[in-house]
Amino acid sequence: MEQFQELLNTNPLLLLAYLIGSVTFIMGLKMLSHPETARKGNLIAAFGMTVSIFATIFLYKAHNGEGLHNYIWIFAALVIGTVVGTMAAKKVQMTAMPEMVSLFNGMGGACAMLISLIEYRNDAAPPMGKLLIIVLGMIIGTISFAGSIVAWGKLNGRVKDKTIPGGQIINFLIFGGIIALSIMVVGGFTTGPALFYGILALAAMYGILFVMPIGGADMPVVISLLNSFTGVAAAFGGFLYNNPVMLTGGILVGSAGTILTILMCKAMNRSLKNVLIGSFGAAKAGPAGAAKEAGNYKEISLNDTAVLMAYAQKVMIIPGYGLAVAQAQHTCHELEKVLNEKGVEVSYGIHPVAGRMPGHMNVLLAEADVPYEKLLEMEDANDQMGGTNVVLILGANDVVNPAAKDDPSSPIYGMPILEVEKAEHVIVNKRSMKPGYAGIENELFFRPKTSMLFGDAKKVLQNLVSELKNV
Ligand code: TAP
Repeated sequence: MEQFQELLNTNPLLLLAYLIGSVTFIMGLKMLSHPETARKGNLIAAFGMTVSIFATIFLYKAHNGEGLHNYIWIFAALVIGTVVGTMAAKKVQMTAMPEMVSLFNGMGGACAMLISLIEYRNDAAPPMGKLLIIVLGMIIGTISFAGSIVAWGKLNGRVKDKTIPGGQIINFLIFGGIIALSIMVVGGFTTGPALFYGILALAAMYGILFVMPIGGADMPVVISLLNSFTGVAAAFGGFLYNNPVMLTGGILVGSAGTILTILMCKAMNRSLKNVLIGSFGAAKAGPAGAAKEAGNYKEISLNDTAVLMAYAQKVMIIPGYGLAVAQAQHTCHELEKVLNEKGVEVSYGIHPVAGRMPGHMNVLLAEADVPYEKLLEMEDANDQMGGTNVVLILGANDVVNPAAKDDPSSPIYGMPILEVEKAEHVIVNKRSMKPGYAGIENELFFRPKTSMLFGDAKKVLQNLVSELKNV
């Protein structure tokens, strides 16, 4: 409060700019929660961030009345950051999005870490409160930086999942070491920088070892958690600099990241501990973990699928990770339009954890201009399933696996699913009988209502569209 009062008296214009920044962050975050307003929300928050950055550069004054110098360094960094960020965001494939988020998040953690290092170097004997904030910011920022870089490496295949024997005990010991050294440094039991840099090294090790054993496909949850760490570390930076907008931004990122982590875990019916220790994940999934087949399945031809869909009244499409892999979203939208022309009502049933990142399917289908009102959330989709003639599952697996409801021994037991069997016909498109992310068999494929339509989603959809045009 004191700092606000001081800013109001000495630099009201800067305070106004920070107020604009904080308000736009909150508005932007609110708008990001709906696909229709998300783009605008992002722009509004970016505008607030730009105002805050330029206000800091030009209006900030230290206690001695001096402003910032070093304009060449500041603007060179701004230009490089803007160019690299813009190019990366334009170039990135939808499937590589979690990777990019992780890398950018790591940069946020690195910034928080650097702020702490610089503040420690600049202030020879900071008061205990300030030192505590410096140390906490450094620990959390470093863990976030190191962990995010490992997560980035895992997602792009450069780093393999590795379970280190006794890893949890080692992590526990490192964590204990971080706390012990922090008490010594902050409590003033030691002088000189050696222990301070010791904390830095331990935090980096902790970040690496904590993310290393987690299954590659669990990364979105971990990235969201690390993202909240970065937010908290940035908020500490806000404390250090008496900077209200940095504080608000950090707290918003910290709390949004925490909420997202909890929501993702809930939607998968897993505890955070279970994700972090990893009871199922990439290690078991993938081609190597192919499930044993549980009986006979039947296949359906493209022609029969086209006929079934053309004469249906209601079709529901269930997109999953495979649709993103095949980049079949545009062809999927084309199928929807062809069906609409034939008088068939088409909707999409969206499971909250379909794909590999939050809102993956919404973003994917929005990219193909699928009207937002056609996307049904899981509960609504399940309500409408009974009146649906044909369900077409495109590259989804776990999110329609009945074991989640019927088999208490299944690792996904308890996860809410799209109850596709309430519909009249179920057609499943995937390339093989291999399992999805959870690495478990799917009974649905062997049930009487289900027919398999094998092939890459994009090719199958292209052929299906041509067939439909001839029906
Ligand atoms: P999955 O269960 O992973 O199944 C995807 C299926 O797509 C696979 O069985 C695969 O079978 C098929 N596929 C892959 N490439 C394809 C292609 N080119 N054409 C057609 N099919 C293709 O996906 P889901 O149902 O979307 O479930 C998501 C899973 O990820 C859940 O277990 C969820 O808990 C987990 N998860 C989600 C998130 C978030 S936030 N969304 C985060 C972490 C984990 P074939 O190999 O036989 O083709």
